[in-house]
Amino acid sequence: MMELSKRVQTMTSSPTLKLVQIKKQLQAQGKVILDFGAGEPDFPTPDNIKEAGIAAIRANFTKYTPTSGIAELKKAIRAAYRAEQEYEAQDAQIVVSPGSKYGLFILLQALIEPGDEVIVPLPYWVSYPEMVRFCGGKAVFADHLQGQPRFALTASSYVSRWSKRTKAVIVNSPSNPTGMVMKAGELAELIGFFRKKNVLVVVDDCYRKILYGDGKYPPPLSLVPAASEHVAVVCSLSKSYAMTGWRLGYTIAPEPLAAAMTRIQEHSTSNPCSISQKAAVEALTGGQETVRAMVEEYRLRRDYFARRVDAIGEIPYALPDGAFYFFADFSHYIGRKKLQDDGQLAMDILEKLNVILVPGSAFGAPGHLRISYATSMQDIRAGLDKLEAYLKS
Ligand SMILES: Cc1ncc(COP(=O)(O)O)c(C=O)c1O
Repeated sequence: MMELSKRVQTMTSSPTLKLVQIKKQLQAQGKVILDFGAGEPDFPTPDNIKEAGIAAIRANFTKYTPTSGIAELKKAIRAAYRAEQEYEAQDAQIVVSPGSKYGLFILLQALIEPGDEVIVPLPYWVSYPEMVRFCGGKAVFADHLQGQPRFALTASSYVSRWSKRTKAVIVNSPSNPTGMVMKAGELAELIGFFRKKNVLVVVDDCYRKILYGDGKYPPPLSLVPAASEHVAVVCSLSKSYAMTGWRLGYTIAPEPLAAAMTRIQEHSTSNPCSISQKAAVEALTGGQETVRAMVEEYRLRRDYFARRVDAIGEIPYALPDGAFYFFADFSHYIGRKKLQDDGQLAMDILEKLNVILVPGSAFGAPGHLRISYATSMQDIRAGLDKLEAYLKS
């Protein structure tokens, strides 16, 4: 066998995607699995969006498209951004990609030189450090585990990690795995500091529409005057519109960066799927009631979770402001059950209860577990009954 590249040899598999495989294996053995590991909505894609996709196929909109996205979709993105965030994006700033994951990947490929540092949040979405390393960069962590209030996304956690080698910082708000949202004052302070240092602030806001507070979300591109020269937002339709399989995301970035990303996309995927782009136009311009209904359902589940976890006791957590994850500290029970770590706890729970939870170590936070509530209320009740009995036994 020929030798693989050094770049790929250091890359590990995504622990969350690995769980999907384990689940399939257990189901093949006839086991009924309660899955709280999912990183995707349990709802189907709304009908109006599906119909737009079907109509695109019928109209033979099934060929290559412009690399960075069709004009109609860019227009819809510009309109959505103007309405939501009072920001007037230019077409040349927009790169539509097959998923925001790929958008972030080509952004980092276009920006990072070997040895550059990228500050990523801790706990982190599993792909950030892997992508940074793949570019030859070094991931440096903005620690949100130690501060108060628990998991708060602060500017100081990033500012304190700045060095002359910092090329970019990644903010993930609402956060996967904690569900925390960065407050406007913190984000403005962070952008203010890093633009003076000529460091790009990348805001991954793929859970932006799943918010539980007053629904207000600080607009990264219009928060600080002229910020958009130093800010890129990486957005996704996957979570808000339950479209994970359609693979559709977009980035709004400073023009030279967007042009560089487009060149990489040109020579790698050519363009995002034509059918998905038409469906995305409908998602952004059609009625938003289905999004509101999904968020309301997530809110009910989050509140139920909080009540049950409070009743179990000794599981410190922070009530999520957004996304659909509960992130909590299970150290007390790891100790009580004489288990080694969160990985062993998750495995014990899987073996004994047939319940999937994601170990916090996957996000750089040992002792914690991530519990996704993108699953039915019926399963949540059943899963929490099992978990409560197990932890108390
Ligand atoms: C924080 C975060 N960013 C980006 C993504 C990628 O989403 P997609 O590529 O489906 O747009 C995910 C998916 O789990 C995520 O959790």
